[in-house]
Amino acid sequence: GSYEEKYRPQFHYSPAKNWMNDPNGLVYYEGEYHLFYQYTVNSTSPDFPRMHWGHAVSKDLIHWEELPPAISPCEDGAIFSGSAVADINNTSGFFHEEGSGLVAIYTNEGNQAQPNKPQVQSISYSRDRGRTWIRFEGNPVLFPASNTADFRDPKVFWHDESSMWIMALAARDRIEFYTSEDLKAWSFASEFGSTVPFVHRGVFECPDIFQVPVDNNPNNKKWVLVLSVGDLNGENMSDPQPPAGGSGMMYFIGHFDGKTFIPDKTIESIHDIQWVDFGSDFYAAVTWNGIPKEDGRVIWIGWMNNWRYATKLPSLEWRGNMSLPREVQLKTCLEGFHLIQLPLKELSKLRNPITSLTDLIIKPGDNLLSEVTALKAEIIAEFEIGTALEFGFKLRKSSIQKTIIGYDVENESLFFDRTNAGSADFHPDFAAKHTVPLKPEHKRIQVTIYVDGSNIELFGNEGTAVITDLVFPDPESQGLELYAVGGSVKVISLQISDMTGIWE
Ligand code: FRU
Repeated sequence: GSYEEKYRPQFHYSPAKNWMNDPNGLVYYEGEYHLFYQYTVNSTSPDFPRMHWGHAVSKDLIHWEELPPAISPCEDGAIFSGSAVADINNTSGFFHEEGSGLVAIYTNEGNQAQPNKPQVQSISYSRDRGRTWIRFEGNPVLFPASNTADFRDPKVFWHDESSMWIMALAARDRIEFYTSEDLKAWSFASEFGSTVPFVHRGVFECPDIFQVPVDNNPNNKKWVLVLSVGDLNGENMSDPQPPAGGSGMMYFIGHFDGKTFIPDKTIESIHDIQWVDFGSDFYAAVTWNGIPKEDGRVIWIGWMNNWRYATKLPSLEWRGNMSLPREVQLKTCLEGFHLIQLPLKELSKLRNPITSLTDLIIKPGDNLLSEVTALKAEIIAEFEIGTALEFGFKLRKSSIQKTIIGYDVENESLFFDRTNAGSADFHPDFAAKHTVPLKPEHKRIQVTIYVDGSNIELFGNEGTAVITDLVFPDPESQGLELYAVGGSVKVISLQISDMTGIWE
């Protein structure tokens, strides 16, 4: 728990010790951003029957203070994923003296006595800014109509237009919407998914639905429904597979009236499905509730992992970390609308510039950055396509290891190659190359890259294309190379910064 261990991320959140998965209960309340998460005390492996909500708070979404676990398993079962809201009008009636407080809405999963009990939704509330939680004696507040095994991950938010609480819930192969006036009594409103023409045999998990301005125009907002898709493990390959395999996130853009979500486009085949991230390690992301109106951003964070190998990662004291917080926007594109993700601008606080270049031609064999190392770094670069067939960066480099982030000019795609990045023997699918389509804009390709202890986040053309991947190079592999293959490329600008660790 010293944050100095091998592979430990220095500016991404991870708990000091033990296992972590999905972010839960993201809510801003009275000057603090809360980050709860699936947490197992005393083990670096997930102990599902003993799953807790771990807890951290931040004033700026960058620096985090870990607090004791917030909600612990009880006779109702384990505490699975869910959300939290600030009940500022005391609709629940839990906060007479305080006037307002936090309410957590989560899934209770079975218990040792009745392991086959269906998943149900329960609530707890806090009168002291999330430090202690009281279980509602009327739990569960929602249980499935039939004995389905998968009924979980409630995302609750306040819907202004209808003055109601809305819950989006993953019910196996569909998303169900419920409404409530008091967070205790819930009525079924509609479902989404059974009419989407593919048989989805994996399970949906961790849904989220939120409104986002299109092209930064506050008068033109669209609703986005995001679903995490559990690892199908090759069960039914005709099902939609996340681009990098295993677990991934899909999204639909449309309209939500407080009861029903209607996608703008009919989904005719699995090729119409839009994916959030083309790497393999961005899962179960959900947005913060209660972000102040003056701020107005939609911000989310994801679990940087993939169920395919999550329990096998070679880290020691802890297992699992969060992505950087990201702002979500929508952009108009040829095919309609596209979700873009931008690393939070507050990250600039951690930035210590070390190198910057402008207007330089790179030819095969050049290596201008042989003196630069990047172990925890930010790299922002803009290229103008020339005669090179491929160009980009080699990161976390040594004589035997490298992670390649490059642009393939002919195929118009950005790629992330971790086949030779470092430790990968813990799972046969880990060593892989991930690609994402990306068209140049005015002959230019822009990339923003974050390199940390055991992960790299890649944003192409201002967040239009994103690849998030774990990598496990030796700590000594810190070299950097800027390369071009088959011709030259012009670097319009390049800034490399060292990032101050958030635990320092
Ligand atoms: C997603 C998930 C959720 C569940 C939780 C259990 O990663 O499987 O569906 O609530 O993890 O830890």
